[in-house]
Amino acid sequence: MTAIPSAANSASAEPITLPPFAVISGAQVRQALSGRESRIVELVEDAYRVHGTGDSVNPPSYFLRFPDRPADRIIALPACLGGQTNVAGLKWISSYPGNVAAGIPRASAVLILNDPETGYPFACLESSIISATRTAASAALAAGWLSRDRQRPRRVGFFGVGLIARYIHTFLAGTGWTFDEIGVHDLRPDNAAGFRGYLEQSGVTGRISVHETAEHLIRSSDLVVFATIAGQPHVHDPSWFAHNPLVLHISLRDLAPEILLASTNIVDDIDHCLKADTSPHLVEQRTGTRDFLLGTLDDVISARVTPPADRPLIFSPFGLGVLDLAVGTFVYDQVSNAGGLQIIEDFFHDLRRYG
Ligand SMILES: NC(=O)c1ccc[n+]([C@@H]2O[C@H](COP(=O)([O-])OP(=O)(O)OC[C@H]3O[C@@H](n4cnc5c(N)ncnc54)[C@H](O)[C@@H]3O)[C@@H](O)[C@H]2O)c1
Repeated sequence: MTAIPSAANSASAEPITLPPFAVISGAQVRQALSGRESRIVELVEDAYRVHGTGDSVNPPSYFLRFPDRPADRIIALPACLGGQTNVAGLKWISSYPGNVAAGIPRASAVLILNDPETGYPFACLESSIISATRTAASAALAAGWLSRDRQRPRRVGFFGVGLIARYIHTFLAGTGWTFDEIGVHDLRPDNAAGFRGYLEQSGVTGRISVHETAEHLIRSSDLVVFATIAGQPHVHDPSWFAHNPLVLHISLRDLAPEILLASTNIVDDIDHCLKADTSPHLVEQRTGTRDFLLGTLDDVISARVTPPADRPLIFSPFGLGVLDLAVGTFVYDQVSNAGGLQIIEDFFHDLRRYG
């Protein structure tokens, strides 16, 4: 800890203590999170509730794009979360789809945590795992809340089976979900085969089927998880959803407006989700209204809305920075309590502002 005078008049000001600056590796993040799916889903639910009460600041994400690399982007998600977490911070996450062909993951990220009293950053965490974890925890949370007033799904279909689909499956399984049938569909047969292999190794019960067509997967599933990297809608036919499935539309741009218009729609945050040409944003552009939205997941959790069971139900989460802060703070506390913080001594230097 470094004690410094807190104001210009250093003679009279109370000294304040800066937390040391720590770097937390991906290996430490994984260790802090693995096997704690139920706890993390609770944390994410708490973060949604705190955000729902307004005790948070979650400005729009900032998209850095490159004229010569249209497929690539780096997104900044600044946020501040109150409640018991009480922290500010920034997730800085890249998506470079071409990485996959080179054998490295598409997404990479860091999360900075800032002390709410001084604004000083006190930790930098590897954050691709935190990001995938909070996304999957949010999906599992939504699956639980959104299936309360309808028959609990017994047939799940994974549409696009990369890293996020694997995390979502882990969180569904880790929070008590079992299925009679698990469907898999991916543009790339080798990815579908790899996901099938992962499912078999993870010891799931239930029949695993790889579906050649999108239509067959959707018609065969009561819970459909979209985790593709599609940039624009590629599923257009509302009749594929005639059996009223619950849809976790994590990749946000797969479904054509006519499908959302024939469904009940829940988002995580309305202002966030209706931008960047997500499917809900396309509906707003087409209809000029937001009437097609029933509400947010927090509205469901807090019983302000109840989705009907006799329509398809689609959850489209934009992904909120407050969730990264909730999970990142949990990781920080776990690593700190275990005595594993790797402190960078003298990271902040020359702190005596007035001599
Ligand atoms: N909403 C959120 O909070 C949130 C958070 C993190 C990631 N995501 C999104 O999740 C998605 C998946 O991320 P990932 O890291 O797993 O990506 P990934 O590249 O690891 O996997 C994507 C998979 O989808 C497949 N695919 C792509 N287009 C397809 C299509 N049209 N039909 C079928 N399969 C298709 C690919 O072959 C690949 O197997 C991305 O769109 C990402 O932006 C959303």
